[in-house]
Amino acid sequence: MARLLADLYREYGPVFAVKFPFYRKRVFVLAGNKANIWFNRHARTNLRSKDTMMGMETVLGASRSLSGMDGAEHYRMRKAQHMAFTRTRMNEHLGDMFQAIRLELDSWNEGDELVARNACRRIMSGQVSELMVSLNLADYMDDILAFKNRMLITHVQKALPKFFLRTPRMAAAARRIDHVYSMIRNSHTLAQRENKPRDLADDLLSLHAGDPQYFPETDIKFATIIPFVAAMYAGTAMAFAVFAMFSNPDIYQRVRREAKVLFANGDPDPEAFREETIDNAHRLVLETLRLYPSVPLQLRTVMNNCIVEGFELPVGSRVVLASTAVHYLEENYPDPQTFDIDRYLPGREENKKHGAYGAFGFGTHACLAPRVAEYQMAISLLMIAYYFELEILPSSYPLKINPFPTCTPRKSLKFRVKSKRPITSGQQAVASNACRRFRRSEATS
Ligand code: HEM
Repeated sequence: MARLLADLYREYGPVFAVKFPFYRKRVFVLAGNKANIWFNRHARTNLRSKDTMMGMETVLGASRSLSGMDGAEHYRMRKAQHMAFTRTRMNEHLGDMFQAIRLELDSWNEGDELVARNACRRIMSGQVSELMVSLNLADYMDDILAFKNRMLITHVQKALPKFFLRTPRMAAAARRIDHVYSMIRNSHTLAQRENKPRDLADDLLSLHAGDPQYFPETDIKFATIIPFVAAMYAGTAMAFAVFAMFSNPDIYQRVRREAKVLFANGDPDPEAFREETIDNAHRLVLETLRLYPSVPLQLRTVMNNCIVEGFELPVGSRVVLASTAVHYLEENYPDPQTFDIDRYLPGREENKKHGAYGAFGFGTHACLAPRVAEYQMAISLLMIAYYFELEILPSSYPLKINPFPTCTPRKSLKFRVKSKRPITSGQQAVASNACRRFRRSEATS
């Protein structure tokens, strides 16, 4: 998608109109560094997010959500949620995150063939759910993902009629989402949360208790479930990153060396994860998100007539910011098709050019968790490199990508576990997680 948008930018310039088969009106696409910079500065006064999210919010019974709010109320909600997406919070939950990663890695055995995107989504969703709601919800991700994808197609892209969200499969997924929400509520009573590190669910429930008019009961479910959708994006990105790491033996060796220093004596302290100690893993993440951005664009509606690069955008029209088209421009990244983690080294720092790196979006709605997502991915890659040697299946696999509803590697991308180092320090973690799952299923029944 990003590459296609870059080609269109080169042919038609920074603003052009596209007609999609499933959408009757023209959609204006903004692309290029200057368009990204314009969006960063002026989107808040001229474009709104509400219309894009409205359909999805209604499906889950919400009146509004962080992603669908605009102006002052969005600012307030973002501020209220900010703390949950910081490194400080991540550090407080680091032990549980290690456990969540180990739980998944422990189930990979020599000779196993893993569907890349499923295995990596489980890794990311386990740790994101630990961080956000202090539960490991990896087992529920398939349902949340299926429901979210169908919502996108029926209620945002409008490529299918809305009743496709009411099939028996989707009804079952909706029931599982309700179940997830009741688990979150049941595990977040005041008594249960005493002396526990705070999480997003705590913050949201406090916000509701403090101002039930601003943040009513109806809106809590959507707000607690939506971060798992973000976890899917991170999971998809992880699948690309693992593919890139094992397709480039030199990168694998560099990440493995960093991993040995960090993990040789058990789990490292949060302070051990510094820019210099995870440098290669971090640059691998940056380059993966440049070449395979899992969120390649941002959708908006024009609420005030405005001019972008000399073109007028009429009120009411739909706009796509092709935020990642810049990733494929030669003037930003020489030889842009080549996977090269050294682009980010001092002296080159190609991503620092204004408007040239759009993996986490631009403007007031830009990703709330870019640093956390980068760290989570880097830590997961380090742990995979420490414990495993994987092979890409088939061996000379030409990477195939599904562009809709979001960019993911196809199911045909697999990893075979060639060798595995015993996950000794994780045994306790695995056992305690198994107990947790047992307690959870007991509570359910
Ligand atoms: C590689 C992983 C990720 C990528 C590429 C990514 C990218 C993005 C992008 C492009 C947006 C802006 C969407 C728009 O404006 O329409 C966004 C928003 C957001 N992301 Fe991420 N994200 C990632 C991971 C995460 C994770 C793990 C979390 C939470 C744990 C998260 C939380 C959020 C939130 C809360 C917003 C909405 C912010 C707002 O509307 O004010 N993201 N993300």
